[in-house]
Amino acid sequence: KDGQKSGDKKVLNVGTEATFIPFEFMEKGEVTGFDVDLLNAVAEEAGYEVKIENTGWDAMLAGLQGGQIDIGMAGITMTDERKKTYDFSKPYFESIGMIAFKEGADIKSAEDIKGKKIGVQNGTTGQFNAEEVVGENSPDISKYESAALMFQALQSDNVDVVVTDKAVAEAYKKKYPDSNIQTITDDKAFAIEHYGIAFQKGSELKAEFDQALDTILDNGKYAEIYKKWFDG
Ligand code: ARG
Repeated sequence: KDGQKSGDKKVLNVGTEATFIPFEFMEKGEVTGFDVDLLNAVAEEAGYEVKIENTGWDAMLAGLQGGQIDIGMAGITMTDERKKTYDFSKPYFESIGMIAFKEGADIKSAEDIKGKKIGVQNGTTGQFNAEEVVGENSPDISKYESAALMFQALQSDNVDVVVTDKAVAEAYKKKYPDSNIQTITDDKAFAIEHYGIAFQKGSELKAEFDQALDTILDNGKYAEIYKKWFDG
């Protein structure tokens, strides 16, 4: 689907779920974060303009399939299942599943979530990881539409643990020090994941964005953005 022109650059519609700190979150009405800086840099390199909207997770994926959205940028793990429906860029970030809980809960490994009330973001790898441990139809799993709602459930003790992505668990822990959020120290509890930029199946954007990604990996731009959000 062709975007509108602005100046001489084609504008691409980007969907995201902007409660996934530090990758994407709202600040003063704008979507900001590592993914936003990275996508802006890659798009600029590829000669596009991007319009990033906080569509929410489900609408992002549906919009990608329906063609209303050109790009999904939301810390999206490239799973084999998703690869059947979307095309992905090269991996741009390595992640791993993480369990967060309130101080005092005795959680050391993935197995320890058995018998606990578990919060996940609906349709994410956190859900799939939790289901691997307690079963797909476990009544102990509560699914939330966003990462923020999932963490709110943890903060208000509606769930005992959440299963999410490591960097995001660490970011929430840091952002809400009074909530006493802890994370397990065993970060081999789940499999390693890789984030990719999602496109429609067959999109010609993939090749252009992969090339642009290579360029910013080579020229130090990626490192600069990484440093800003993760070592700063
Ligand atoms: N990496 C996980 C997945 O792809 C979670 C992504 C959630 N992203 C978000 N912006 N809330 O399933």
